[in-house]
Amino acid sequence: MRILVLGSGAREHAIILSLLSERSGDAGRHDVFAAPGNAGIARDATIVAVDPVDPGAVTTFANEHAIDLVVIGPEAPLVAGVADALRDRGIPVFGPGRAAAALEGSKAFAKRIMDTAGVPTGRATRAQTESEVEAAMDAYGAPYVVKADGLAAGKGVIVTDDRAAALVHAKTYLDTGAILVEEFLAGPEVSLFFLSDGDTVRALSPAQDFKRALDGDAGPNTGGMGAYSPLPWLADRYGSEEAFVAEVTRTVAEPVIRTLDAEGTPFIGLLYAGLILTDDGIKVIEFNARFGDPETQVVLPRLRTPLSQLLMAAASGTLEDQPQPDFSDDVAVTVVLASEGYPEAPITGRSIEGVDAAGDIPGVHIAHAATAGDGAGLIATGGRVLNVVAVGSTFAEARERAYESLSRIHLDGSHHRTDIAARVS
Ligand code: AMP
Ligand code: GLY
Repeated sequence: MRILVLGSGAREHAIILSLLSERSGDAGRHDVFAAPGNAGIARDATIVAVDPVDPGAVTTFANEHAIDLVVIGPEAPLVAGVADALRDRGIPVFGPGRAAAALEGSKAFAKRIMDTAGVPTGRATRAQTESEVEAAMDAYGAPYVVKADGLAAGKGVIVTDDRAAALVHAKTYLDTGAILVEEFLAGPEVSLFFLSDGDTVRALSPAQDFKRALDGDAGPNTGGMGAYSPLPWLADRYGSEEAFVAEVTRTVAEPVIRTLDAEGTPFIGLLYAGLILTDDGIKVIEFNARFGDPETQVVLPRLRTPLSQLLMAAASGTLEDQPQPDFSDDVAVTVVLASEGYPEAPITGRSIEGVDAAGDIPGVHIAHAATAGDGAGLIATGGRVLNVVAVGSTFAEARERAYESLSRIHLDGSHHRTDIAARVS
């Protein structure tokens, strides 16, 4: 297949590596194109000069280059209506249209859909003034959960016992729109991805990410500092991973997909359910309309079903004919290497050494998040720079490989968490 992947992060690199790992028999490997990509993606796919958020440009490129399938990585092209434009022209695309993508972009829309679908979630209040924010905070009590109602790259949320800090956070975002104050939900978090063709869903294997910047879940929220999959401890709570996945499919994914379809905004793409396993049952904290980052980097290396087959079936409404996706028993751990100053004010432009040696360790590969070529070398171009991804037969093995690999990489001032998957066995 000729596949165009939109996006520039480690998630997109993971998607591309998964597509290229398929043994497609006589047909040979897929031809994969990426826009805009990064220096790591450029080693594996053909970078093309197409603006990924310009619906017309993407559609023209796909037509002129006989693209069989477009895979949209980040939310920005979804919000820009790129999937709508491609679908209008009959080009298979994995990614929801603008209206359905609001499940991610508008937390208020997501809450309304969950209400209609009867999906378990925490209580939330939409506030437009400071006094409304304060009243809602006092109604729910500490810890306070305050969110911007829009895209904020994972940084729009504060969870804190400090009432004054929560108010300051709310004020920063009140200027740009409404605020959501939520009931605090306690329990472990799980990210579960569903492929959807608008009607049928197929679950992938669960993962957990580490959102805080520092070890021990200290420091500010980030886009994600590491992840692992599968989650062996789910079996203690639910009997098996399969039983957990079946419950979330029945209580969360299917009702949401049905509700969106009934409202005339079918969801074709990746439904990301961010869940908290409370003592009161499984509750949704957020939906995303795209693959999670960095969870994708640990889910896809374990996927044995060809990814292109699943994405194409979702894009063309034939997911019902697909078997449940099959995963290897191997485990995967990813650790994110971040620039100095991330997430507040990352320092970029510094050179990165040792990436090839880091990828030489058995079971390890490097997914690039924000890199550019600088002659024969590499420089960091963003906050999250590289993801070391290690697969192993145990978490101890995968962790050891990941951290050995990281020790071979040098980026001045960089930081990473040292406790990714440390408590999993
Ligand atoms: P979100 O952007 O909504 O995913 O929130 C980012 C992170 O904040 C989540 O992954 C949780 O760790 C935390 N969080 C968000 N909402 C809640 C909540 N209602 N209760 C507890 N933690 C939350
Ligand atoms: N890992 C969190 C996200 O992708 O939004």
